[in-house]
Amino acid sequence: MRTHKCGELNKHHSGQAVELFGWVHRRRDHGGVIFIDLRDRTGLVQVVFDPDSPETFAVAESARSEYVLSIKGLIRDRPAGTVNPNMHSGEIEVLAARIEILNESETPPFPVESDIEVNEELRLRYRYIDLRRTAMQEKMKIRRDVTRTLRNFLDDNEFFEIETPYLTKATPEGARDYIVPSRTHENAFFALPQSPQLYKQMLMIAGMDRYYQVVRCFRDEDLRADRQPEFTQLDIETSFMDENEIMTIMEEMIRQLFAKVINVKLDAKFPRLTFQESMSRFGVDRPDLRILLELVDIAEEMKAVDFKVFSGPANDPDGRVVALRLPRGSDLSRKDIDDLTKFVSIYGAKGLAYIKVNDRQAGMDGLQSPILKFAPDAIWMKVLAKTNAQTGDLIFFGADKANVVNEAMGALRVKLGHDFNLLEGEWKPVWVVDFPMFDWDEKSQRYNAIHHPFTAPSCSDEALVANPGAALSRAYDLVLNGTEVGGGSIRINRTAMQQTVFNILGIGEEEAEEKFGFLLEALKYGAPPHGGLAFGLDRLVMLMTGSASIRDVIAFPKTQSAACPLVNAPALVTDEQLRELGIRLIKPAGKEKV
Ligand code: AMO
Ligand code: AMP
Repeated sequence: MRTHKCGELNKHHSGQAVELFGWVHRRRDHGGVIFIDLRDRTGLVQVVFDPDSPETFAVAESARSEYVLSIKGLIRDRPAGTVNPNMHSGEIEVLAARIEILNESETPPFPVESDIEVNEELRLRYRYIDLRRTAMQEKMKIRRDVTRTLRNFLDDNEFFEIETPYLTKATPEGARDYIVPSRTHENAFFALPQSPQLYKQMLMIAGMDRYYQVVRCFRDEDLRADRQPEFTQLDIETSFMDENEIMTIMEEMIRQLFAKVINVKLDAKFPRLTFQESMSRFGVDRPDLRILLELVDIAEEMKAVDFKVFSGPANDPDGRVVALRLPRGSDLSRKDIDDLTKFVSIYGAKGLAYIKVNDRQAGMDGLQSPILKFAPDAIWMKVLAKTNAQTGDLIFFGADKANVVNEAMGALRVKLGHDFNLLEGEWKPVWVVDFPMFDWDEKSQRYNAIHHPFTAPSCSDEALVANPGAALSRAYDLVLNGTEVGGGSIRINRTAMQQTVFNILGIGEEEAEEKFGFLLEALKYGAPPHGGLAFGLDRLVMLMTGSASIRDVIAFPKTQSAACPLVNAPALVTDEQLRELGIRLIKPAGKEKV
């Protein structure tokens, strides 16, 4: 019977007889003595085999990396000079009296005991081995701590944990659906939920008052480091709370989470930024406030200059002209600037004009740039004042359609911030509020919902209809260090308003009835004022563990191409299954592949 876990043992156990189970982390032969570091989920302990008991010694000699062992032995203090301060159990060791090999292991495809970088495809193919590595064990532990702490907080605050279906109908959150054919209903398909949005709203109509769920969401969309096709939300909904009350209680939850799990003290009050201000100062709606650089609008100054590159966008209602000051950037080389120009071109920028401020006191003589000739001196002096330029600085310029400038200069701001170490503080949460209700899609010539179509506007029905493009919503996002970790809104709770929004989105009556008839109907039966939000749990854990990707904090994630190399999913199905489902493939698979 297991008496202790490896990583828990310490000086206080000295003299005790123990029985341990675990894996061979490392085995070393030292001139007649064998050391095995035995590993379980709690950590490592050193086991010593001396040749005095030849049988035990012989078995230990045959043990290899990742063999599963049971060990009986005696805890003793390590001899002076051999204490390992990097190991929790480093002051003691186990003198083995008995060893049993419970299972052998083939040589693992990559070492468990070192943290050498391993190709991710291989890690995912052998995820059960990858997860044995200390860093991954630690991440899984923090993930467990995170969900537990969040659940405790919500339980204490009278939220009910309620499960909602996975086999359901499309819930639009802006991605494609994963669909599942129904065998019992010919030609019909379920959709896996992009979020439990409509169920949680119906739970409010059902009088559940406060709901939460740690829930899987499914979205077929382009993958990135912080996006997976299935990911976990902490999904929350409340009745009779306005956006301020919701943000306040959620802030408290996040503060407690960081304090309890990673011992980080977040601001007593998270700042709030309007969408407008965020776009204007940072070019994005998820600003990394650790980065000290800001975009400065200079369209007014550039309206009348000869330089078409600037005056064009300055006079275009959809255009934008900004300056971005890089402190101490004036010694950037031609090549550095060329590289940055290439960088912004990824985002569609057609160039990256700049001015070097070699001597702020020397007026125009102190400036160096190919574009000085394009505008009167007085304009450049205004730009210097507006950007608060100092000797030694470099000012970059972006001019184009506003969306191009925002993307390119927003990304440049982040890159320069990191490259030049212009970051302040470790954790910068911020609420972004006052999002527009809709954005206009040129291609399809219609409005899209910025949050989702169930979000309430902050204006009246009349104002909304009169000018949908100008309407603001009662939505809010929580952004942490440049990552959107959560978002939500106050919902529409009246049928007429919901229909109005569907109309504006170009969802006709028939389509609305077919897709969301159940919601429109439910809203008629005493729907309370309600609102909530959802946190991206994987993203929170990614940030809290300092991981580069959410794949690192998900036990069995998908690859960039949305596949699982471990179980080989997705996979072909048999003709028999297809027949039962009434499905014929356009390009039938070769038999041999099934
Ligand atoms: P939203 O679509 O903003 O809102 O999602 C909420 C949060 O979920 C995370 N997230 C993702 N994480 C990993 N991979 C993805 N593909 C992915 N997509 C989103 C983000 C995001 O902030 N029903 C609404 C919430 C509400 O209104 O209450 C919703 O799903 O961190
Ligand atoms: P040009 O006259 O096209 O050689 O451009 C002069 C300077 O303006 C160069 O440094 C270009 O990189 C820069 N530039 C060109 N287009 C843009 C733009 N849309 N935004 C910012 N700078 C630009």
